[in-house]
Amino acid sequence: MNTVHTVAQLRAALARARQEGKRIGLVPTMGNLHEGHIALVEMALQRTDHVVVSIFVNPLQFGPNEDLDSYPRTLAEDQRRLLDAGAHTVFAPSVNEMYPEGMQGHTLVSVPVVSDGLCGASRPGHFDGVATVVTKLLNMVQPDVAVFGEKDFQQLAVIRKMALDLCLPVQIMGAPIVRAADGLALSSRNGYLDENERRVAPQLYQTLQQLAGQLLAGRRDFDTLLEEARQQLQRAGFRPDYLELRDTTTLQPADEHSRDITILAAAFLGRTRLIDNLRCTLG
Ligand code: PAJ
Repeated sequence: MNTVHTVAQLRAALARARQEGKRIGLVPTMGNLHEGHIALVEMALQRTDHVVVSIFVNPLQFGPNEDLDSYPRTLAEDQRRLLDAGAHTVFAPSVNEMYPEGMQGHTLVSVPVVSDGLCGASRPGHFDGVATVVTKLLNMVQPDVAVFGEKDFQQLAVIRKMALDLCLPVQIMGAPIVRAADGLALSSRNGYLDENERRVAPQLYQTLQQLAGQLLAGRRDFDTLLEEARQQLQRAGFRPDYLELRDTTTLQPADEHSRDITILAAAFLGRTRLIDNLRCTLG
């Protein structure tokens, strides 16, 4: 496994792989890797011959009061995990390498409608930042396949729509959420939780599971269900950001005729913002 820090080094490494007829996979990350990221690498390894993992904490997708400065940067440990997992190339560029002209006045890729609402409402500009950096990474690597986690469900929808609209020659794949034994979705941000918050955190997923149970039992009074679930989160100590039912494919608000619903939630526990989602297929 080799680690490269510049686009020139990356292109040189990939030219060799391509010459050997290898299919290339890309797993974009912001580092501080956990089993959720490794599952994406494994999916890419199953479908391609040369897997590139990018590690870049992208300033363009962070809001002014968000955790850009405190976001964990653990390259040496990430490299060790990726070596174990069997990745081929780590691409860890500097901010200057990614944005040599600066971020002011940079071209933006914007994906309307899917980016609206949910995380897009509470994090203005976030998905423009994500879509822009992912476009750049796709152009740098030119992979056959790129893998993203369903943990960031709206992000995956944004990237799928972007790839479709811009005719990007890449297959976008989604990978299931990897959870801790107690149900908490793995996230680099879980490291911000103190001991007590970490004990409370699995209740986010438990609330989604209970909500899914009610839907499966036939309840269709969405507003009441969501209000009950919100109150439950508040009682547990969360500050809910959003809790919504959306059509799994279109991400539009679910209605009583929807059959394939994804429950999406974001909630603060102290200063930490956690997100999770659960798909619920009704008979
Ligand atoms: P990051 O939060 O590091 O996540 C990288 C990828 O890992 C994303 O596709 C995310 O959905 C996936 N992932 C994170 N936790 C997961 C879990 N518990 N189970 C399954 N997959 C999980 O998402 C980003 O970085 C950035 O926005 C990025 C796409 C790299 C653009 O900067």
